Amino acid sequence: FPYECLQPFRLSVSTLQSVSTRLKKDMIRGLGKHTHHRAPVKMLPTFVRATPDGTEKGDFLALDLGGTNFRVLHVRILEDEQRVVKMDSQICAIPQEIMLGHGEKLFDHIAACLAEFLDSHELKGQTLPLGFTFSFPCEQLDIDKSVLIRWTKGFNCSGVEGEDVVRLLREAIHRRGDYDIGSVAMVNDTVGTMMSCGYRDQSCEIGMIIGTGTNACYMEEMRNVKRVEGEDGRMCINTEWGGFGDDGSLRDIQTDFDLVVDKTSLNPGIHTYEKMISGMYLGEIARLVLVKLTEDKLLFDGQVSDALQTPGRFETRFISEIEDTGLENTQRILTELDLNWSLGDVRLVWLVCDTISTRSAQLCAAALATIANRIRNNRGLDHLKTTVGVDGTVFKKHPNFSQQLQATVRLLAPRCDITFLVSEDGSGKGAAMVTAVCPFCILLTFRPVSVSF
Ligand code: GLC
Repeated sequence: FPYECLQPFRLSVSTLQSVSTRLKKDMIRGLGKHTHHRAPVKMLPTFVRATPDGTEKGDFLALDLGGTNFRVLHVRILEDEQRVVKMDSQICAIPQEIMLGHGEKLFDHIAACLAEFLDSHELKGQTLPLGFTFSFPCEQLDIDKSVLIRWTKGFNCSGVEGEDVVRLLREAIHRRGDYDIGSVAMVNDTVGTMMSCGYRDQSCEIGMIIGTGTNACYMEEMRNVKRVEGEDGRMCINTEWGGFGDDGSLRDIQTDFDLVVDKTSLNPGIHTYEKMISGMYLGEIARLVLVKLTEDKLLFDGQVSDALQTPGRFETRFISEIEDTGLENTQRILTELDLNWSLGDVRLVWLVCDTISTRSAQLCAAALATIANRIRNNRGLDHLKTTVGVDGTVFKKHPNFSQQLQATVRLLAPRCDITFLVSEDGSGKGAAMVTAVCPFCILLTFRPVSVSF
């Protein structure tokens, strides 16, 4: 293979199997009462104990924070048609200074966006239940009590880690004093995705996101959730698999480029696996590789443009565009980046993108296969047939990501037959679904035995 710096991105099936074995162990550590504390894969109980049974209904508000945009939604669940309908939604930008500023400002901003939405949709008089999709690792104490363990992705607001996010939201709304909200259900986006897909397909018991960040949740047997009392039934576990490798267990597969991406990120040392897989980081990995190949005189006649030198300038969506059919996209993007390209360069840039996105899909597959194998083992089945609800821009927009992922999962979980259901706005609708299913989640809720972070 002529391009030495691409070599470490190529993972053999046996390496992927070994990654899966390591994750399997870390999932057990995360679930354990005494091992959870230091486990890099947090395996957080969500208190969602039932997937939809198709009888849920009603009107809900939903907030969605943690992906590309912050959104407010008004959602209606129509029981007769077994459908979740998005009535209206609004995107609110969150300026960078708020993403990195004080938490109070963030929640004031969220409360203001919600107020504006309620005003413009004449909903202020009603006190609707609210589903809050908050896509960060949270220690959930109850369906409406959820403590942020740490920020991930692009957020780093002070004064929120260690605090109950629902309380911060309610306080911000009270500070305004012009409206109120009803009961609140907190969900991770993976859970929202699983639940909204679960409404369409009742065998959906895994939710997976490959977008700005990456993560998955699944239905675990209560007897294995050692931190929550009770042995019967199942509970949805938010794995937070993005944190896999934070104890150094993936050091052998991290490339020099991964180490730079981690070091220059907002949260060095945190969410190692996510940084090799998700949309927030793939473009930057590609940029660093392109710079290296140029410095080695293998690209662009050895001339690096200022644009290519700029962190963040090579966006993850470029990878999808470049790998899409035809070379025109690549030529346009390279021209926009002020690069003097030849046809050979165009082909090599394609190879770089393909190498990085393939690794991402394969790593994601290794993690998904670990979960599927675990569910199969849990149930003592020879063969598992299950459905995974998926969302996220990388999965949806990249031309061959889904195919690569599925092919690798088949290799690593040969006795699992997995159907992929692409979620239509699971983060928004799923939160409403949890709010609807949760009257009985709450009834059935067991208290956590120990809470530690
Ligand atoms: C990050 C968050 C996680 C979320 C994922 C996908 O990994 O920590 O909670 O589910 O991104 O948005």
